[in-house]
Amino acid sequence: MSKAKTRDRNAPKPLSILFVASEIYPIAKTGGLADVAYGLPIALRDLEHDIRVMLPKYGAISERKNRIHEINRLKDIPVSVGERTELATVKSSSITNPRQKVQAYMTTNHHYYDSKWGLYADPETGADYEDNDERFIFFNKTVVQTCLLLGWIPNVVHVNDWQTALTAAYMRVMFPDKFKATKIVLTIHNIANQGEFPFKEAFAKTGLPAEVAENFKHKGKLNFLKAGMIYADHITTVSEGYAKEILADAKLSNGLNDILKKRKAVFTPILNGIDPLIWSPDKDKTIARRFTFADLDKKEDNKIDLVKKFGLQYNEATPVIAMISRLVEQKGFALLKEAAESLLKKDIQMVILGEGDKKIEQMLLSLMKKYPKKLSVKIGFDEILAHQIEAGADMFLMPSLFEPCGLNQMYSCVYGTIPIVHAVGGLADTIKEFSPKTAQGNGFTFVKFEAGAMLKAIDKALVTYQNKEQWMGLIKNAMSSDFTWSKSSKQYDGIYRALMATLDKTK
Ligand code: ADP
Ligand code: GLC
Repeated sequence: MSKAKTRDRNAPKPLSILFVASEIYPIAKTGGLADVAYGLPIALRDLEHDIRVMLPKYGAISERKNRIHEINRLKDIPVSVGERTELATVKSSSITNPRQKVQAYMTTNHHYYDSKWGLYADPETGADYEDNDERFIFFNKTVVQTCLLLGWIPNVVHVNDWQTALTAAYMRVMFPDKFKATKIVLTIHNIANQGEFPFKEAFAKTGLPAEVAENFKHKGKLNFLKAGMIYADHITTVSEGYAKEILADAKLSNGLNDILKKRKAVFTPILNGIDPLIWSPDKDKTIARRFTFADLDKKEDNKIDLVKKFGLQYNEATPVIAMISRLVEQKGFALLKEAAESLLKKDIQMVILGEGDKKIEQMLLSLMKKYPKKLSVKIGFDEILAHQIEAGADMFLMPSLFEPCGLNQMYSCVYGTIPIVHAVGGLADTIKEFSPKTAQGNGFTFVKFEAGAMLKAIDKALVTYQNKEQWMGLIKNAMSSDFTWSKSSKQYDGIYRALMATLDKTK
């Protein structure tokens, strides 16, 4: 798939990179991490790197659909987790786009993954699996074993969030010589999840020596993310705004900002991109009608299709406000709950797609019962419907309490669906308030995390919607926002290269 082209002799040598994540689109996805763990490796492959990705093969992942097959050298690898020894078989698959193919390694095991359908939580109850410490200790050990058994010691190992942070610790503590030429990058996608477990029991399961125990302990618990932050050579996070917030805010970072402060010299924000082959209204095969700004009337067909799918009555003049979200506190459902009565009295319709916290699901479903003509909610995870919502809605609401980067506000922009966001983290970095005076801006924002402030921002959007000329100008701005991976992947490339240069100096 990758085109054979002659390399520029002066171009820097491609690097070997192992990108490790707990979810990767389209194989396994619960949120934005999966999209990043697809788009970024593909963009790095475009820069010629020998990049491979690795994730666990959870029960819900189909072997057939993902063309998963065995690798001779990686069968029945004994891996200990505390007293228990389980066999891991690492299999092969790939992630692709029309230009590129990236090798994917997947750890299989009956006890930890096949027997459990969800990625982190039981889909029936929504509760986290009780053995998540073991599931990810096991996975991280298999990452290290895969490199050793393949005899493939990458230049860079790039880990993401707490679930894969232990790889850094295992490489540095257990195999310092083998990986002495390997540089490790950790990306924090969400510092709210740190992988915290009862210290004594969970640390014993890691099999690591007592003398490194302090590196894993935070507020009396075992903290996977803390260990990653200590052992990684470089740390990144997914927007400049969020980087500032987690450095400054002990509450938001659960006290890990102290480590970030110490490591500030090697801490870099890099904004996520979006994949233009997957999220573009002119190429999207999942939507009712493809469109560009030049033929925006076709977007209306997507609106007709969308309201029908959600069982609402179509009315051209009534704006449709959408949400697609994990149903968790982070996403600002507390504000929606508080504002719902006032909001749903306005001349709007709302469509919401999400799953997660059962209490939030119930809250949304009872609102739908009360306002059946105004609000339609679908509980579940539906990738295709998510595209159709982006294509058909007029506005997209993201009242997140905090948001490391956020991808949906960017998807919304390119589909001409105007975002209304709480101005935090990546939302503040990507969405600029529309000014009718200057005709600049790509959405609407509110600063105070309050229902009243959110309603005011929605009102501004509704007023602008009535002025067709202004609304078209706003859509034009939104659709021409530049959110592709090409800039961000070069920034990651720069970090990898700078790390390699430090290695050359120490030789
Ligand atoms: P987060 O990673 O915090 O969930 P992002 O905005 O970065 O937030 O990314 C969310 C991603 O997950 C988007 O691709 C969004 O479309 C998708 N998503 C979230 N919930 C659902 C759902 N219920 N069905 C389909 N896609 C969803
Ligand atoms: C996390 C964050 C989200 C971010 C995504 C990808 O899930 O909550 O803001 O966009 O990771 O980096």
